[in-house]
Amino acid sequence: MQTDQKINYEGRIQKLLNEMTLEEKAGQLRQCGPSLAGAFGVSFEELVNMMFDGKISKEEFDQQMSSAKQDFREEELRKGLIGSYNGIANAATANRLQKIAIEETRLGIPLLFGCDVIHGLRTVTPIPLAESCAWDVQLWEKTARDAAKEATAAGIHMTFSPMVDVAKDARWGRVSESAGEDVLLNSCYGAAKVRGYQSSDLTAQDSMAACVKHFAAYGAAEAGRDYNRVDMSMQRLFEEYLPPYEACVKAGARAVMPAFNDINGVPCSVNSWLLREILREKWGFDGMTISDSNAIAECISHGVVKDQADAAKRAILAGMDMDMASDSYHQYLADLVRSGEVSEERLNEAAANVLRLKFELGLFDHPYQTSPERERAQLLKPEYRRTAREAAVKSMVLLKNDQILPLPEDVKIGVVGALADDRAEMLGTWAFEGKGEDCVSIVDACRAKGVSFTYINGRKAVTKENGSNQASVTVVDDEAVSRLAESCSVILAAVGEKKEESGEAASRASITIPDEQMEVLKALVQTGKPVVVVLFNGRPLAIPWIAEHAAAVLEAWHPGVEAGSAVLDILFGEANPSGKLTVTFPYTTGQCPMYYAHIPTGRPGGKSKFTSKYLDTPLEPVYPFGYGLSYTSYEYSDIRTVLSEKEVSVCVKVKNTGNRDGEEIVQCYIRDQDAERARPVRQLAGFEKVFLKAGEEKAVSFVIPYEKLGYYNSRMVYAVEAGWFEAAVGRNCMDCLTCRFEYIGE
Ligand code: NOJ
Repeated sequence: MQTDQKINYEGRIQKLLNEMTLEEKAGQLRQCGPSLAGAFGVSFEELVNMMFDGKISKEEFDQQMSSAKQDFREEELRKGLIGSYNGIANAATANRLQKIAIEETRLGIPLLFGCDVIHGLRTVTPIPLAESCAWDVQLWEKTARDAAKEATAAGIHMTFSPMVDVAKDARWGRVSESAGEDVLLNSCYGAAKVRGYQSSDLTAQDSMAACVKHFAAYGAAEAGRDYNRVDMSMQRLFEEYLPPYEACVKAGARAVMPAFNDINGVPCSVNSWLLREILREKWGFDGMTISDSNAIAECISHGVVKDQADAAKRAILAGMDMDMASDSYHQYLADLVRSGEVSEERLNEAAANVLRLKFELGLFDHPYQTSPERERAQLLKPEYRRTAREAAVKSMVLLKNDQILPLPEDVKIGVVGALADDRAEMLGTWAFEGKGEDCVSIVDACRAKGVSFTYINGRKAVTKENGSNQASVTVVDDEAVSRLAESCSVILAAVGEKKEESGEAASRASITIPDEQMEVLKALVQTGKPVVVVLFNGRPLAIPWIAEHAAAVLEAWHPGVEAGSAVLDILFGEANPSGKLTVTFPYTTGQCPMYYAHIPTGRPGGKSKFTSKYLDTPLEPVYPFGYGLSYTSYEYSDIRTVLSEKEVSVCVKVKNTGNRDGEEIVQCYIRDQDAERARPVRQLAGFEKVFLKAGEEKAVSFVIPYEKLGYYNSRMVYAVEAGWFEAAVGRNCMDCLTCRFEYIGE
């Protein structure tokens, strides 16, 4: 943002504030979602709960959703009591409401439309966890740019993305929305998304504001249970959790969403230390803060306020500008100012933050930034689909390959599993505008490519008698399985999680593949035919059996609209897999949270009794952070460090020793070996994706400023200490060349 622009806006903002009533100012701080009228007269969330509580079936839910009318509270809008809407992705509706705001309210202040555009709007791209496995900054930016073009065409001004909650616990369902367990990766991913959404000109018709979330440390929810408490040392918070949010702020993100959780007992929504001292004073953030949905009112359940008025007061004083969905500000703020409990200056400051964002987006000058024609022309353009396919291919991680892939063109495949033929399940979490009909399933892709294949679901319904009761259950369809095995040379089994099994409110206490899918898989392996497993899921899964028995395993995640095409691109070798895991795959849920950058104990796990390990499970993961195979092979050699005045360069040679061209994600890790506070056994310090032709060798070097070698010491001072460090470069966090260097200090 240019300062001279800001000065202009400040004058116009002040002029508006002078004219606004307290209610109108509070109105600017109010974000509403359309509520449902007709659907039994309840809100969307209540309707979802009715389905989960078994009061209505999924069919009734869908029917209510499609027939319910959305209520936009237009009378309140006309009075200037609504400043923003959430969840409207429709140009005609957005323009109709905007027209009311511009032409029928006293001051004609434009509305701000926010929406969750997390991994594409209509052109759904891989879930963030998947896309992070591409380790590709340009790709991250490009998919965000496409998302912004689609979303702005649908009337959206701000997306509640990127989510950069470092996620080390596979039980937490929202791992799927993050860039995984590493702090550097989340930082690079988040900053790229901000650049992609906002571009260099926020006023451009196809730019939208990025709202970074969930500030802070939501990914550390205790026991991986969603919305749960976060309790951690300040050192850990500053070293492992805060940097990605800061990177997004530094990249220019114009909005920040505080998290649902508390940190050390204080909910983020009312945490003035976070929202003022860290965000604004330390990092210099000058944008808008917006609560998570209903989070201000939920401070009552947290037990930190006595009622909703108190919640409104604590939140506004803490620095929360906009209230999403709870209506606490709408109901209580004006009175709180009149009674002197909240100063009008603070209300003005919050309203100014909202108005400034509207100015920065160009909404005062061009309130109608789209039209139904533009929307029609933009959604699902062929070029977006091409990028979605590229992103899906680059996101997939080849976990195992017993020399069976790539498949020959004339192979006969037996395709098994409901997920191989379910388009909508390919969308993943947060794809409200995504449509199953836009997606390519594995079965679709096989047909389109002319592959010789047979498809079976693998299960059949039978009636079982239990005493006098008869019940219909599904069991493995053994006959169909053996017929299929006879007719093909390779079995392709699609297994994993449905899209609702990860994402918000989707924590799992057991991160395994559901039993009924495992039964089918075991029957398939029993046939003796090689089984290629394709995993569709939104979190790391505990899959030791699959890792041992499958002939090949491809981690496809929830890949979006081009799912099936991308899977086939890899299976048939049109693309050489290059993705690498950004999360650790444990053996069993009991190891969670399991992550590579752990702090060493005094008794590292080993064979002898009194070491840090489990009696009943290996200490190592099934697949480590940074792991992923290719159809070619790479050799690393000649690691060395070069020390100069301000930085250390870690240099290595990487050679493509196979017979296919490929891209290798080269990773550089650092360990401080004699620090005052124990440091992680390995910490990612840099990564580079290198294209190597077959037989080609390249020198790769990572320049690490000494400044980056520091950490927060026990007095919470960021210190760069002289001493010995280990540099490690390799293909994953456990397979590296290493060397040591000494930093002698300033
Ligand atoms: C709740 C989620 O935590 C947040 O990520 C999302 O942006 C809001 N709801 C708005 O839908």
